[in-house]
Amino acid sequence: MEKKGKFKVLLVLTFMAIIIFTLFLDHKDNHKHNTQATPLTRAPVTNYTIKIQEDLYSITPIKDSEHFMVSAFIDHRLDGAIRVISIIKRKNLQPLYCVYCTTKHDCKTVETEVQIHTDHFSFPYGASDVICKGKNMQRATSVAITTSKKDSADLRTDYLEIKNKLVTDNFKYNFTVCISNLFGSYNNVLQFAQTMEMYKLLGVQHVVIYNTSCGADLKKLLKHYESEGLLEIVSWPIDKFMNPSPGWNIKKHKGDLHYYGQLVTLNECIYRHMYQSRYVLLNDIDEIIMPYKYSNLQSLMEDLQSADPSKGVFLIENHIFPKTQFEDSGKFKRKEWKNISGINIMEHIYREPERKNVYNPTKMIVNPRKVEQTSVHSSLKNFGGSYHVPFNVCRIVHVRVPLQGSLTKEQLFVDKRVWDFENDLIPNVDRTLILSGLLKDSS
Ligand SMILES: *[C@@H]1O[C@H](CO)[C@@H](O)[C@H](O)[C@H]1NC(C)=O
Ligand SMILES: *[C@@H]1O[C@H](CO)[C@@H](O)[C@H](O)[C@H]1NC(C)=O
Ligand SMILES: *[C@@H]1O[C@H](CO)[C@@H](O)[C@H](O)[C@H]1NC(C)=O
Ligand SMILES: *[C@@H]1O[C@H](CO)[C@@H](O)[C@H](O)[C@H]1NC(C)=O
Repeated sequence: MEKKGKFKVLLVLTFMAIIIFTLFLDHKDNHKHNTQATPLTRAPVTNYTIKIQEDLYSITPIKDSEHFMVSAFIDHRLDGAIRVISIIKRKNLQPLYCVYCTTKHDCKTVETEVQIHTDHFSFPYGASDVICKGKNMQRATSVAITTSKKDSADLRTDYLEIKNKLVTDNFKYNFTVCISNLFGSYNNVLQFAQTMEMYKLLGVQHVVIYNTSCGADLKKLLKHYESEGLLEIVSWPIDKFMNPSPGWNIKKHKGDLHYYGQLVTLNECIYRHMYQSRYVLLNDIDEIIMPYKYSNLQSLMEDLQSADPSKGVFLIENHIFPKTQFEDSGKFKRKEWKNISGINIMEHIYREPERKNVYNPTKMIVNPRKVEQTSVHSSLKNFGGSYHVPFNVCRIVHVRVPLQGSLTKEQLFVDKRVWDFENDLIPNVDRTLILSGLLKDSS
C-alpha cells in the first residue's frame, strides 16, 4: 500500500517537472524573440505583469527598494507628465526611474523627480509624487517605477495602468465624498448611515472609502451602499506592507506612516476623480460638510463660485457636537435604532464654542482639477487659491467625544441644523438599515 502511494507521488512529480520545464523553455524563447525585435531601450511588458488598480493591488512595492507605488495618472496641467502617487521611505530615497509603455513591447525609461509632500508629520514614510517627464507619455498605457536605469526586460516588475488619459468636463458626478481610511474594528453604524443619507439629501452622488478593516455590522452597511451604487470601497491593505500609525502624532502613536496613509489616500482620491466629479469633499467618516445658508451643496457651490470662479479650494470650519450632551425632549430616541450600534447624531444638537488661541482645523470641498497636492486640513499646492467659507454659510457637523468636556449645556450653543432634514432622513435611514439586514422590517 505505502509503496504504491509513493510511486504515484513520484509519477505526478515527474510529470509536473516536465510541464514546468517545457513552459520555461517556451517562455525563454518568447523573451529572446521580444528583446531581439526591439532595441535595448525598450522592455517587453506581458499582460500578466500589469496589475490593474481595481484588483486588490492598491499598494505595489517598488522592486529593490523600500518604497511603494499606488496609482498613476497623466497630469494634463504639467504638459502631460505622468504622476505616480507613491509612498516613499524618506531617508532611503535613491534615484528612481520610470518605465512607461505604449504597447506591450514599446517601453521607454526616463529619470524621475520625486516630490515628498511637506506634510509627513515626521513619520519615516511620506506621501509622495513621482513625476515622470518624457516624449509621448499621453499615449502610454502602463508605467512602472524602477531603481535601475538599465532598460533590460524585467518581467517581474509590476506595472500600473495609467489613468486620466483624457480631459473631459462631462462629469459623471457633481459631488463625490472621499472618506479616508477605515481601520480597526470601527462599527459606528448609525452615525455612518445617518451621514450617508444626509449626504444624499445634500446632493452627493458618489462616496469613496479606503478600507483597511472594519466592524461586522458596518461591513453589512458598506456592502449595501456598494450594491446600491453610491459607495466605492477601495481596498487599502496598508497594514500588510508596514506598521501604520493610528494617529498623526508620532510621539503618541508610533508607526511607519501617518494615520494609516490618510495623506496618500486623499491625494489618490482627488486624482481618481479629477475627470469624474465636479467637486470632491474631503472629510472624515464622522463629519458632515453641511450648508447652512442653502439647502444643498449645488446651491452652495454656485454661490461660492460665482463670487470667484478661479478658486478651487474651499475651507470649511470644523465644529464639535459632543456625543455626551443629549437634547432634552428625547424625540429621536427611537426604538428602531435602539439595537443599532453607534452614535445617533439627531440627539446631539449642542455645539462647542470656538476657543481663543486654539486653531480650529478645516476640511475641504475642492475642484480636483485645481489641486496638485493636498494635506488633511488645507491643500499644499493648488492652481487657484483657497477660500475660507464663512461659518454661517457652511460648517462641519462633527458629533464625537468633546474637546471641551468641562462645558455644561448652558455654555454650549444649540444648533439643530440636522433636524431640518428629519422628515426625509429618518425613513431613509430606516430603509437602509432594513436593506442592510441590520433592522427587521416591521411594516
Ligand atoms: C490579458 O488580460 C486580460 C484580462 O485579464 C484577458 O482578458 C486577456 O485575454 C489577456 N490577453 C492575453 C493576450 O493574454
Ligand atoms: C450637476 O450640475 C449641473 C450644473 O452645474 C447640472 O446641470 C446637473 O444636472 C447636475 N447633475 C446632477 C446629476 O445632479
Ligand atoms: C475591509 O477590509 C477587510 C480586510 O481586508 C475585509 O475583511 C472587509 O471585508 C472589508 N470591508 C468591506 C466592506 O469591504
Ligand atoms: C439586536 O441585533 C442582533 C443582531 O445584530 C440580534 O441578534 C438581536 O436579537 C437584536 N436585539 C433586539 C432586541 O432586537
